[in-house]
Amino acid sequence: MARTTLYHISDLHFGRERPPLVQALIEEINARGPELVAVSGDLTQSARRREFAATRDFLAQLAPPVLVVPGNHDVPDWDLIRRLLRPWRRYGRYITDDLYPRYSSPTLAVLGLNSARRWSPHTDWSQGRLSGYQMPEVERFFTGAEPTAARVVVVHHPFIAHELVLGRGVIGRKEMALQCFGQNQVDLMLSGHLHIHHSETMAARAGERALVAAQAGTTFSDRFKAGYPNSFNVIELDRDHIRIRIRCWSEEAGGFSDCERLDYRRSAAGWESEAA
Ligand SMILES: [Fe+2]
Ligand SMILES: [Fe+2]
Repeated sequence: MARTTLYHISDLHFGRERPPLVQALIEEINARGPELVAVSGDLTQSARRREFAATRDFLAQLAPPVLVVPGNHDVPDWDLIRRLLRPWRRYGRYITDDLYPRYSSPTLAVLGLNSARRWSPHTDWSQGRLSGYQMPEVERFFTGAEPTAARVVVVHHPFIAHELVLGRGVIGRKEMALQCFGQNQVDLMLSGHLHIHHSETMAARAGERALVAAQAGTTFSDRFKAGYPNSFNVIELDRDHIRIRIRCWSEEAGGFSDCERLDYRRSAAGWESEAA
């Protein structure tokens, strides 16, 4: 089965970007030439025009195709009227007005879903969720995917809780979405938001088919957390094997290099972690 390479970058937070890292990433992506670059949201720090323009200019410098979903920082939070009435106007003007971005080839079928919301019943509006109305699109897209293609979903909010942030930020309606992804034989979910790189296998319920959930850190913003340097994921995959290479920024070396490697293999029960 043909293997392919996917770059997963996230939480760019233009407005708080670190220019040497932006330049290093552009050079690496264009030299390596992956099949696709997936961007899992928080393109900007505050959804300002100049931040979206900087994101657009950055994306235009990448040679491979790019698939982008928005994050909670891409909705204007300083202007309640704009937030409630036209939450995606700037995103649409500068990036894309497609909130179901798709990429399809014989090796890769990738669907992006928007998990950021203009309003939330919780006091914390940075929380995200998926909704029932988005699930038929998942079914439609993967029903039409090539059988040889690895199946990937990109969404900003994470499916994995993390002890460092006490479970904060985990996507709403997670079980509903996992069940739908499982039924549609999704292999891999990509997300961001926590600025912590991490990955593990998970299923909607015990005994159901597991898939791989991978989170990327913040790729080049200065909003990284202690112990989690700026990073991105290089994913080499086919329908039987997924390898995630995490590339971290080293302040001493002034460059990105491999800092962790995770391998997963598909079995009858779904995806399982493989000892490195
Ligand atoms: Fe973020
Ligand atoms: Fe976020």
